[in-house]
Amino acid sequence: MFRGSANYIANHRNTLAVYHIPGGLLDLEDPAIFRNLMNDIALTWLLGMKVVLVVGCRHQIEKRLNEKHRLAGVRVTDKDTLRVVKEEAGYVRFEVERELARALRLQSSGMDGNVVSGNFYSAQPLGILDGIDYEYTGFVRKVEVDKIKRLHDNRDICLLTTLGVSPSGEVFNVCSESLAATVAGAMKASKVIFFTEKETELRSTVHGKKIQSLRFSDAKALLDYSGLAINKKGFSTISDRMAGRDPSTVDMLHKIGWSVEAVENGNVLEKDIEMYYVYTRDNLIVACGQLKQFEKGYAEIGCLVVNSEYRKGGRGDAMLGYLERMCVMHGCTSIFVLSTQTMEWFLERGFEEVGVEELPPSRQATYNHVRKSKIYLKRIESVRDLDANELWWNR
Ligand SMILES: CC(C)(COP(=O)(O)OP(=O)(O)OC[C@H]1O[C@@H](n2cnc3c(N)ncnc32)[C@H](O)[C@@H]1OP(=O)(O)O)[C@@H](O)C(=O)NCCC(=O)NCCS
Repeated sequence: MFRGSANYIANHRNTLAVYHIPGGLLDLEDPAIFRNLMNDIALTWLLGMKVVLVVGCRHQIEKRLNEKHRLAGVRVTDKDTLRVVKEEAGYVRFEVERELARALRLQSSGMDGNVVSGNFYSAQPLGILDGIDYEYTGFVRKVEVDKIKRLHDNRDICLLTTLGVSPSGEVFNVCSESLAATVAGAMKASKVIFFTEKETELRSTVHGKKIQSLRFSDAKALLDYSGLAINKKGFSTISDRMAGRDPSTVDMLHKIGWSVEAVENGNVLEKDIEMYYVYTRDNLIVACGQLKQFEKGYAEIGCLVVNSEYRKGGRGDAMLGYLERMCVMHGCTSIFVLSTQTMEWFLERGFEEVGVEELPPSRQATYNHVRKSKIYLKRIESVRDLDANELWWNR
């Protein structure tokens, strides 16, 4: 087992993980669940990861306050509510410190692990929205990246609660999930992990398999359904983007050989459009890739292109990783690409060169022997294989 984990340990040493712990996890009927979680987090620290913990207290606050304080899913924090938040944020902070200190002592005899909390971010008020004054409800203004880094240099663990102080000395109650995401972004964390109070997993209603990754439009629908806001980057299909007709969509259509008019006049088949996936950032398309399914569990990745202004920033990797996960979700285990220019790029990402005879029969029939594209194949059984593969990429 240790040999199997060794590559994960080596790859994650000195990387940063942000863990989000909802308050409800602290008050479960079975205290062993929270204790074991702290043991696991202490273990990741012991193995060399840098750790930031963000602990929420929504569960504790909701037990004490009624729903009238919530508007459109966001809590209005008046003076009395702020007092409750301060008490509960203090409670969850000390509970985590207590259990984590125990776990660190238990697991790291001789190593000096310390949990430190303090003013590691500043906050500002949400203000008045649609005529509603949210008073002491706020959002993150600035993460003190250097201060947290200094703490990690000392091998300490950073603990954050949802109370952020403004430069003028006011205290604001921020959303813990958003705090974890903002801190992870500012610190360039390699992982941000959200724990849930109940075992929750998404399963496909079609084939019943666990859903490991989502298209941007599906994630958005899911968040809308849960009444949560979305960030501005993710994956979708190019057809999801047609309505807007923004310049980046028109440009990307052009790159893959279509015009907006051809698509709108129905000269491009709906099923062809559906095969094109895009990666967007700040609502602009930065990468695109085609996924075509064949018989016997084969799928072809084609037209993988990153907008030239955005190259060398890992977007090609992100797009490829997403397409590979989509293949696995559709039950494909053999993924191939045909290339005349980008051979090394695919070889470096775990593909191997194969002959035409390795292609599924219907693709062999349409292979262009004059063009002589090289064929690269990768076999993947599960999303876990992909995760393991990506860990080995040395970039
Ligand atoms: C290939 C492509 C998708 C990579 O996108 P990207 O976002 O720049 O990729 P990443 O940031 O993940 O990787 C960048 C690395 O790939 C390398 N790379 C880019 N094009 C390459 C090529 N044709 N062959 C080998 N390596 C290549 C870069 O030099 C860089 O290496 P470095 O990190 O050592 O400097 C992008 O360059 C592109 O759109 N190219 C034109 C279209 C194309 O060739 N598509 C593939 C055929 S289906």
